[in-house]
Amino acid sequence: MVSEARAVSLPGYRVLIGAGLLAEVGALVREAAPAHRYAVISDDVVAPLYARHVGRSLGAERSLLAAIPAGEVHKSRESWMMLTDNLLAAGCGRDTTIIALGGGVVGDLAGFVAATYMRGVPVVQLPTTLLAMVDASVGGKTGVDTMAGKNLVGAFHPPSLVIADVSVLASLPVRQRRSGIAEMIKHGVTSDARHFEHACAAAPALASGEMQADELSEIIAASIAIKAAVVTADEREQGLRKTLNFGHTLGHAIEAESGYELLHGEAIAIGMVLEAMLAERIGVAERGLARTIAGAVRAARLPHSLPAQMDAHAVLARTLGDKKSREGRVEYALPSAIGAMAGADGGYGIAADEREVLAVLSGPEA
Ligand code: GLY
Repeated sequence: MVSEARAVSLPGYRVLIGAGLLAEVGALVREAAPAHRYAVISDDVVAPLYARHVGRSLGAERSLLAAIPAGEVHKSRESWMMLTDNLLAAGCGRDTTIIALGGGVVGDLAGFVAATYMRGVPVVQLPTTLLAMVDASVGGKTGVDTMAGKNLVGAFHPPSLVIADVSVLASLPVRQRRSGIAEMIKHGVTSDARHFEHACAAAPALASGEMQADELSEIIAASIAIKAAVVTADEREQGLRKTLNFGHTLGHAIEAESGYELLHGEAIAIGMVLEAMLAERIGVAERGLARTIAGAVRAARLPHSLPAQMDAHAVLARTLGDKKSREGRVEYALPSAIGAMAGADGGYGIAADEREVLAVLSGPEA
């Protein structure tokens, strides 16, 4: 049994956070998303670790497993097709619940399978990376990447339950842990200066895996609570939720331009520093903000500037296909200070002149 789990509530579902929660996964899932069949979608790194246990807990006779190769390049329409064909071949009906067991790629892809399979079946998110726990599994964004960019085909499809068992982070590579810290820093920048300080101070212990389970659960729950409040206020990203895209307009472009060699959080870390420089440059942020954010990113040992071989013009070109563009203009979510976002009057989307963006992409680091 799990001694103590934290819970963060969003409209229609809860996020449970605690050590050892996977021990109870069957009962928790059956209560939140009762189904005739459970289709566990995972990848070839995570499945060998946890899929057998999850399947047994759900009932071996009513669960099936489908796994994709790990990696962002597999968050594709081809994987979506393979997975939905698997479910059809297995005779899964509308009384099926999808179980997304893995990191952000699996969560987004499995969520999109759930959003579209037979016009929509429930999904339960079982995030196994820090990044998926604090960000990707919460809020109902699902989708796949295309050659034109990240997440360009997708749907809002909130989960029925999210179970973040922090004990699985013990086996997570340090690079993946750091990637998750980037999104925690982002939550501090966008919404809560105290969380920013907390995430910065906790970064070394979070990265090394030395943090005690209770403290780990607490800081993860705090980060999730920030996102949950934003999503609750604006699930469909009409205004406030755009703030969660801080670092992501340039970050997504950098991630794609790296051929997905950079992890999502690594690209977002660079994107946050560059977008904070942009915010200062166009006069919406207080002086020194980019330096403060760069310091946080460096403290987490995340990259903070464009990789030397990456072409600024190519990154700029990739931003043009971003979902966040409106009326042909690329929009940015920019902070004004730690814990505060600029542009509330305009719904938090700020269109920046391309020359300013290029200057930041080409200029000296913060
Ligand atoms: N990752 C940003 C959002 O969920 O809105």
